[in-house]
Amino acid sequence: MKFQIKISERSSQALCLLLALSYARAVPLPLTQVLITQGPAAQLKVKEQSALQLPCVYQLPQLYAESHSISLRWRKDNKLVRQVQLGQASVTTSEPQLESLLRDDTRLTLNKQTGALQFSSVLASDAGSYQCQLLVEGQPAVSSNVGQLEVIEQLKFMPQPTSKNLELGSVAKVHCKAQGTPTPQVKWLRDTQQPLPAQVTDHNGTLIFRNVSTAQRGQYTCLASSSQGQISATVSINVVVAPKFLVPLQPALEVNEADIAIIHCQATGDPQPTIRWDKDLIYFNENNTDVKRFQLLENGTLEIHNVQPEDEGRYGCTIGSSAGLKRDEVLLVVRSNKSASNSIVTRIIIIIICLAFLYFVLVLGLKLWYRYRRHLGKVQLEDAAPVAADAEGHEHAEHEPCLTEANSSKNLKSKLRESTILEQESQVADDVV
Ligand SMILES: *[C@@H]1O[C@H](CO)[C@@H](O)[C@H](O)[C@H]1NC(C)=O
Ligand SMILES: *[C@@H]1O[C@H](CO)[C@@H](O)[C@H](O)[C@H]1NC(C)=O
Ligand SMILES: *[C@@H]1O[C@H](CO)[C@@H](O)[C@H](O)[C@H]1NC(C)=O
Repeated sequence: MKFQIKISERSSQALCLLLALSYARAVPLPLTQVLITQGPAAQLKVKEQSALQLPCVYQLPQLYAESHSISLRWRKDNKLVRQVQLGQASVTTSEPQLESLLRDDTRLTLNKQTGALQFSSVLASDAGSYQCQLLVEGQPAVSSNVGQLEVIEQLKFMPQPTSKNLELGSVAKVHCKAQGTPTPQVKWLRDTQQPLPAQVTDHNGTLIFRNVSTAQRGQYTCLASSSQGQISATVSINVVVAPKFLVPLQPALEVNEADIAIIHCQATGDPQPTIRWDKDLIYFNENNTDVKRFQLLENGTLEIHNVQPEDEGRYGCTIGSSAGLKRDEVLLVVRSNKSASNSIVTRIIIIIICLAFLYFVLVLGLKLWYRYRRHLGKVQLEDAAPVAADAEGHEHAEHEPCLTEANSSKNLKSKLRESTILEQESQVADDVV
């Protein structure tokens, strides 16, 4: 008593502190007191996938439970994870986001009776600091101590290594990752215990193939070990050659209607690729194919018999195997018979025009020749004329006034003139043609 008085004399602040301390020790509680008597353990280590219960034991006077709105909350790393309404039953649902929170992860439940947070199966991601709280309307929140949860991760592959197809001649990686507490060591082996083949190295759990060859085909085992033990996973590594077109597809093909169209498609690869045809990106199947006209041959060739105008389009050949897929296409153009008959008509017309022209030229030629012949005959007549003129006197002089031996050159000139006129005439005739 003496000591206390001494303190109180020193400062009233210290007395307040003392009073607060005595309250916290939960000596006789006033009726109004809301308390959490037990929270989660300060340090907790659990194995992954085990069940867990974090307690939250509280004292709540009956009076409060009936007349106040009280909620119990659990926080993880200071974020609200679960909440439940205590007391007034009339308080129905909590906020919508909390509802969705509850539905999110069914592993986690808040027991309304005990206030405990229950994990059906602990995950590595559950590690963190946990605290429970009681909230009474109009009063400051009452919080429990903070409990640290540590999860001992089981030794496991994350993700599980998988079998792979590696492209011949390429550089490839195959990963193996393991998790656990403590961190495991990871290494690769050929088959189950042999060293890795040449050109294949193990970099911290990643298998690297520098230049993939068929000799590297086979089984590989990834070993992960820690103080927890050892686990292994075996995968098969297959070496493949991606599908390739043996001969590039012809880009376009023109076929007459009713003819046969043949489109080749040949592929190589390992494994041998299969060939599928499509028209305008729709694969041929038993329902959309006229099997009488469309023949998809074993060797990859597509034959279209009695080609119809509607067959025009893009024909795609897809070559595929476990090593990949490739597609290329051919444009099929159908020349219809209608346009072919049209061209025959035009050809006939052209022939008729040519024939008419030839006929015209022939007639003209004949005409000219005839005229020339007639003219020749006339000249011969004229050559013989002087004799006749001599015999018959002036008669001829009227026609050729001074026809003498000396004039014969003039006569030749006129003859020449006549022939040029003839030439001009024939030119005019040509122009007309
Ligand atoms: C190997 O893996 C461990 C753990 O995954 C990592 O800490 C380390 O840095 C890695 N080493 C190399 C060389 O990548
Ligand atoms: C073809 O038609 C039948 C019956 O309509 C249907 O069952 C089948 O799946 C179809 N096949 C293809 C490849 O579409
Ligand atoms: C496929 O077979 C057909 C008929 O036997 C033949 O006409 C065609 O040329 C072949 N294709 C190739 C690419 O050899």
